[in-house]
Amino acid sequence: MAGRTTMETRDTVPVQKDQDILSAAARLSGEDLCSIADLSSAEVRALLKLGHEVKRNPREYRHALDAKQMVLMFEKASLRTRLAFETGINTMGGNAIFVDQTSSPLGEREAIADVARNVERWVDVIVLRTYAHDTIVEMAANSRVPVINALSDFEHPCQALADFMTLEEHFGSVTGMNFTYVGDGNNVCHSLMLTGAQLGANVTIATPRGYSPDIEIVTKAREMAEANGCEIRLTQDPQAAAENADAMYTDVCVSMGFEHESTKRAPIFRPFQVNEALMQKAQPSAVFMHCLPARRGAEVTDAVLDGPQSIVFDQAENRMHVQKGLLLLLLGGLANVEKFQ
Ligand code: CP
Ligand code: NVA
Repeated sequence: MAGRTTMETRDTVPVQKDQDILSAAARLSGEDLCSIADLSSAEVRALLKLGHEVKRNPREYRHALDAKQMVLMFEKASLRTRLAFETGINTMGGNAIFVDQTSSPLGEREAIADVARNVERWVDVIVLRTYAHDTIVEMAANSRVPVINALSDFEHPCQALADFMTLEEHFGSVTGMNFTYVGDGNNVCHSLMLTGAQLGANVTIATPRGYSPDIEIVTKAREMAEANGCEIRLTQDPQAAAENADAMYTDVCVSMGFEHESTKRAPIFRPFQVNEALMQKAQPSAVFMHCLPARRGAEVTDAVLDGPQSIVFDQAENRMHVQKGLLLLLLGGLANVEKFQ
């Protein structure tokens, strides 16, 4: 067995009856998480604080979600998101039910609203991985139990929350840091922009022409950034984007559902590969990040992915801790945890 490493958790102030977390819990109980924009800056901060706390003291949350039922309905493949949610709820006393929708898209056999009105009778939370973001919005509009976006073509909020939790672990604080994303301006990129903006990080996005992030998300992120004293910058020059970066992030060039564009995209994205030469433009202390799965040799080289600056498996680990925090907030689980009573 290879030696297993894990990031040390941040040594933060005790969270005993932490007012930031309790305020977020009061507001978010019963709510959905379709987009990072559903959370205020204070709520993003509180959720990450709870993620660090749950990671540090998992035993104190063993019964926080006793008997709660979570359904995962996934139209696309998943390793991290599925297992992080399943292990997360199982270690807090709840139960996960996985429904494979890969060959039966939601809304095809039965109207999405009718699916919602059935499922809410049996479960306490619905976790959805879809193609169309509207599927998530429609399920949320018709469900009386919380709906969580576990990746749509438009956003991946759980990923971005875990990523910024990981950056907080690494750097202590992300306020004022330079965060650079290089690659396709789609789901992961959108959620990273919004999360960075809510946390006061300067976010630079380098995409090929025609693959820039959605203008509505950019506008929203810039409004948040202005309120939080940071900037969102867009460019088509990966070299310029890498300069002075504290974190370099990339994602696959061909997202799920776009496989038919692989041949067309390969040459367009080649100059955006994160390799050792691009990492050298960043700060010497910069970290490399990737949501995974990675296409080795395409958007990132082995040397970078496996190199000393890579924190990709810490990101993967933190999916579970931050998603536990999210479930606690949406399902009112802190009421069962002694230190919050
Ligand atoms: N990063 C991520 O969401 O991984 P999965 O697709 O394996 O869930
Ligand atoms: N952008 C990728 C993220 C996978 C976690 C996709 O949508 O396939």
